[in-house]
Amino acid sequence: MQIHLIAAARPNFMKIAPLYHALKAVDWADPVIVHTGQHYDLNMSDAFFTDLKLPAPHIHLGVGSGSHAEQTGNVMMAYEKVILEKKPDLVVVVGDVNSTLACTLAAVKVSYPIQNSKFKIQNLRRPLVAHLEAGLRSFDRTMPEEINRIATDALADVLWTPSSDGDENLVKEGVDPEKIERVGNIMIDSLEMMRETITAQNAHVEFGLEKGLFGVVTFHRPANVDNVESLTALCSSLISISKRLPLVFPVHPRTRKNLQECGLISKLDNCSTIILTEPLNYVRFMSLIFNCRMVITDSGGIQEETTYLGIPCLTMRPNTERPVTVTEGTNCLCALDEIEGMVLEALQIGRGTSKTPDLWDGHTAQRVVKSIKRFKETIVSTGSLSAISNDP
Ligand code: UD1
Repeated sequence: MQIHLIAAARPNFMKIAPLYHALKAVDWADPVIVHTGQHYDLNMSDAFFTDLKLPAPHIHLGVGSGSHAEQTGNVMMAYEKVILEKKPDLVVVVGDVNSTLACTLAAVKVSYPIQNSKFKIQNLRRPLVAHLEAGLRSFDRTMPEEINRIATDALADVLWTPSSDGDENLVKEGVDPEKIERVGNIMIDSLEMMRETITAQNAHVEFGLEKGLFGVVTFHRPANVDNVESLTALCSSLISISKRLPLVFPVHPRTRKNLQECGLISKLDNCSTIILTEPLNYVRFMSLIFNCRMVITDSGGIQEETTYLGIPCLTMRPNTERPVTVTEGTNCLCALDEIEGMVLEALQIGRGTSKTPDLWDGHTAQRVVKSIKRFKETIVSTGSLSAISNDP
């Protein structure tokens, strides 16, 4: 069974790695890594393949940056050609980036003839599409990722969710419950797979920081970093916070470009209590998270990793598509003008109690493999899944 695993941008690599390794271990699956090239810098992409022990991508679409429409359209055109040539049985898309939606659209609309095993006719077929991390909703359609989530979930044949809110959101949107399967959080599999290496890394020491006495900062959302006023206010807040809690800030390319254009990068660079770095590889970054006092971010995945590790996280966003990190975990949403006060509060209170959400246990990839095996058997016994066959 040929299974394409779509990897495109930094947060995707941690989601496909455990699944690639789990599929490699069974004799019926042929996992193929398709990199769309949405993220292409060494430290946004290749470094993650090395850390997560992934082979170089088997197929590289080399699409690169562009506007949303350009990026989505270019991935669709490039991936359609690949589907027609390789005829995969299953396409697994992960997360919510532009390439997730683009590959889903390409795969559900394509069709190619396959020989019917019993009769001398050709059936038309397309690959099944499965979405891993389905059902998450911020209910904020100004986020490009929310559009990608809604459209991907409306089109995919199989929806693997990380938490019960995901199941509920999908059912409310009218998705057939038969398509939904809760498998848990695949990012936790990567974290557990790499735990020993991460623990041995002690990245904070390289930065001259003491365990538990620094904060980690990441920002890249357009709503926070594409606006001069909010970026300027954010920098002032970070400088002020760093006087109490030294900060290490790996800077995303989008954020760096905007900080440079607004003349803010030197302000941060000149602040002795803020360490600016290039984006870090997975192991070094997670090592900082393991050892830090708290995190200030607008990332999606970091909200989950900090909840799992019981580390306080302030997420500078008005909403989250990952509500269990707030209701069960250590995550707090905050506005720009609240951030300094909330950091102080978090420093005084210390770590709160947090519960690990159900099925965030490092065994999600195994559950996904079992799920694929079940529908593989359906394909083998019927020739194709009736939902997707298009018999002439
Ligand atoms: C994308 C995802 C976002 C995810 C984030 C993680 C979408 C809509 N957004 O946002 O959900 O959280 O990745 O990083 O898919 N760039 C580089 N080098 C790279 C990659 C990007 O310089 O390797 C530059 C691009 O030229 C562009 C900017 O960074 O100017 C944004 O890249 P893009 O992938 O379009 O979106 P992200 O902001 O990274």
